[in-house]
Amino acid sequence: MTEPTRTRRGVLPRLRQPGSRFGRRLRGGVSLLIALGIVGSIYAAFAPSGSAAPAKGEALDVQIGQGIFDQTCISCHGANLQGVPGRGPSLIGVGQAAAYFQLRTGRMPLTQQGAQADRKPTLFTETQIEQIAAYVQAHGHGPQVPNGSLSGGSVSDGGELFRLNCASCHNLVGKGGALSGGKYAPALDRASDREIYAAMLSGPENMPVFGDNQITPQEKKAIIAYIQGIRAEADPGGSGLGRLGPVPETLVVWLVGIGALLLIIFWIGAKT
Ligand code: HEC
Ligand code: HEC
Repeated sequence: MTEPTRTRRGVLPRLRQPGSRFGRRLRGGVSLLIALGIVGSIYAAFAPSGSAAPAKGEALDVQIGQGIFDQTCISCHGANLQGVPGRGPSLIGVGQAAAYFQLRTGRMPLTQQGAQADRKPTLFTETQIEQIAAYVQAHGHGPQVPNGSLSGGSVSDGGELFRLNCASCHNLVGKGGALSGGKYAPALDRASDREIYAAMLSGPENMPVFGDNQITPQEKKAIIAYIQGIRAEADPGGSGLGRLGPVPETLVVWLVGIGALLLIIFWIGAKT
């Protein structure tokens, strides 16, 4: 085994010394641990934390939210959320729901002027989103997405309500469709429970606002149950993973994938 390498420079054969089998295993084990540590801390940085902020922390949330707002949103929405002509509308009174929806679906901050802001991966952590939303909420107090579970509604009631209120734009099975002026109602195969709830409360773009007088909170939960139901039917291979949304789901897939890869690398290392 050392024969062909001896002809090269002196460094290579030393690396191939026998007796280093244990050393190699140890090195493999150590790098595995380091890699898992890195992956773990990346996950910790991105994992969603509890969104129910205690009352005492609210003032702090608003303050941190303002800090982020002043850096990323002020140019289009103004220093007091009053809006900037030709750049962005006033956000006074739009409420936590509108901010949560726009940030969680990555529509804001707007990156290019088009007919309509597209869904993109979000720039912010769940905590930052709640902080910016708390800042927006503090200006005019608009509608808020309730804390706690939004699932468990009646699918059959939801189907009826969806056909009456949503299907005209989003299609009967939530596939979405074109609207006039280059605008479109998106497919509903990606929105999480909270995003759907926030969309109904805030009515982005051409979508009407469905306040609690028109569609009660219980009926909103039924609509969510229906949308998640048609999605599960259309996509039998997908796993809900608690419907945490695409970011945590991707992370889980990524973690499992990296873990398997490391095991294979370790196994190959141990065999040679
Ligand atoms: C480049 C300009 C621009 C930037 C930067 C920007 N926005 Fe917007 N924003 C807009 C425009 C234009 C609209 C209206 C169009 C739309 O809703 O698609 C809008 C709409 C919104 C709405 C919806 C208002 C409603 O009535 O429902 C919210 C909430 C919002 N922005 C929050 C933010 C936040 C928070 C940030 C910073 C993280 C941000 N925006 C950054 C231009 C911008
Ligand atoms: C008049 C047409 C119209 C109706 C009716 C309508 N929507 Fe929408 N909906 C839209 C448009 C347009 C958007 C995209 C807004 C944007 O990009 O800012 C949207 C976006 C959404 C989104 C975000 C999807 C994503 O992946 O980001 C959800 C969720 C949603 N609607 C749910 C509903 C529900 C539930 C109903 C019925 C209660 C409904 N919509 C009724 C036009 C409509």
